[in-house]
Amino acid sequence: MQVLDCDILVVGSGLAGLVAALRLGRKSRVILATKRAPDESNTAYAQGGIACVMDPEDSLEEHVRDTLGAGVGLCRETVVRAILAEGAARVRELEQLGVRFERRTGRAEEYDLGQEGGHSRRRVLHAGDMTGREIIRVLVDQAERHPNIEIRPDLMAIDLVTTGWLKQPGPNRCLGAYLLDRSNGEVLAVRADHTVLATGGAGKVYLYTSNPDIATGDGLAMAWRAGLPILNLEFVQFHPTCLYHPEAKSFLISEAVRGEGGVLVNAAGESFMEKYDARGSLAPRDIVARAIDNEMKTRGDRCVYLDITHRSTRFLRHRFPNIFTTCLKFDIHMARMPIPVVPAAHYFCGGVEAGVDGHTRLPGLYACGEVACTGLHGANRLASNSLLEALVTSHVTAEAILDQPASGRAPRCEIPAWQSGAAVPSDEGIVVEHNWNEVRTAMWDYVGIVRTDRRLERAMRRIRNLRREIRQYYLDTLITPDILELRNIADVAELVVRSAQQRRESRGLHYTLDYPETDLSRPAAETRLQDPPGGAVSERLD
Ligand code: SIN
Repeated sequence: MQVLDCDILVVGSGLAGLVAALRLGRKSRVILATKRAPDESNTAYAQGGIACVMDPEDSLEEHVRDTLGAGVGLCRETVVRAILAEGAARVRELEQLGVRFERRTGRAEEYDLGQEGGHSRRRVLHAGDMTGREIIRVLVDQAERHPNIEIRPDLMAIDLVTTGWLKQPGPNRCLGAYLLDRSNGEVLAVRADHTVLATGGAGKVYLYTSNPDIATGDGLAMAWRAGLPILNLEFVQFHPTCLYHPEAKSFLISEAVRGEGGVLVNAAGESFMEKYDARGSLAPRDIVARAIDNEMKTRGDRCVYLDITHRSTRFLRHRFPNIFTTCLKFDIHMARMPIPVVPAAHYFCGGVEAGVDGHTRLPGLYACGEVACTGLHGANRLASNSLLEALVTSHVTAEAILDQPASGRAPRCEIPAWQSGAAVPSDEGIVVEHNWNEVRTAMWDYVGIVRTDRRLERAMRRIRNLRREIRQYYLDTLITPDILELRNIADVAELVVRSAQQRRESRGLHYTLDYPETDLSRPAAETRLQDPPGGAVSERLD
């Protein structure tokens, strides 16, 4: 088995992974492993933008207040302040690297700031409706030309390697990871002093999601299997408005469309959000998604509609070029007819417990971006705060790693060759396909926008059975990317259900008919899951 050595292993090539790699590359040798092409990440699909105080009329206090308000008592305020305060400096660095955010026509010194739900004012920097693409374009280009960064596409992390698993004396520590090379099916190991998980989210755990196919919770599942605490996983954000069309794959219709005056209407053409919240169509996402769910269920409709027909074709084409052309591809002219929309899984507010500086409970392992739970989002993420979090925390993480004394380096350990045992090539692809659909359907049907104890129990029974079957299949067959992703979504699915079962109240994104009120009788508490290390690596090595 090939073993690659480097100072830092970064897993994931979204905003968090790329910023961390670029910063670390100044002084260290970095391997950046990404399971597909370097420009394929959740970030690349981000439409809305980066929430940041750039307008002289705006203030940090107002941004903090909006973030805490959306988070319903579960944000860590010191974390909120630390991340939001760093935003402007990090955004300026992105601009220096070449990222172009939209400026106001005729007033180049002023940003054209977007409005999104839960923000008390316009605060979202954007590049049309393809903000993520613009950021990734610049960062990938920088990373590809960097002498200290080796980008390894098609390299999918399987599991972390720790001294604990290798039965080394002393405190447990991360040593790197086993990875599967998709191009030739071989397993290799990367041995690193520090490993940064920047693997993004897990939208694919649900049948309908705004996320691309890569979002299978790989980092979350690996960290959990390595025994790390996972926080707040019940808080899954459903984006209220994804395009309802059989071939559109839940394409996102940015909240910025509502920010520019788009109004949600039902099939009868009635604006309904006012019944649910005084802020109407721009209420925070949890409220809007639940209202849409209720409207669809009570009326028996398959979707609701987003009406922005009062805006001109010219305006819409310029402000939302990607949304405009995508809708047109499906014969929807958004200046002339309302857009059919439904909610879909969008963002995991919980994740691997991590500090603003990325540190986790496992020395040598850091987490930043969506895979991490720093405490910024609490029970519901404020729109466009996620790119900001990824940008700031990856920078701070890199600085913290570079500040480590030499004694913080990993001990020199032999990494044993990957054991395939008696595994044979997968000849039952149908098992993977079937279980993939079953996990995601169970999550959509029973662990969605509105939950109940019985629905969660049903989901748990099914997912536990599926996980047993998947584990056996994983051990019996030679691993493939599909098997690894299936195993990861099944692990994450169970963690979401377990977290949801622990929360006996409704708060933010977690809404259950059995406990419809928010429990105000005690201080709000985070949900914490931690299990002894287990799973793949140890099973393969023992
Ligand atoms: C959107 O453009 O509506 C998504 C922005 C976000 O998820 O923060």
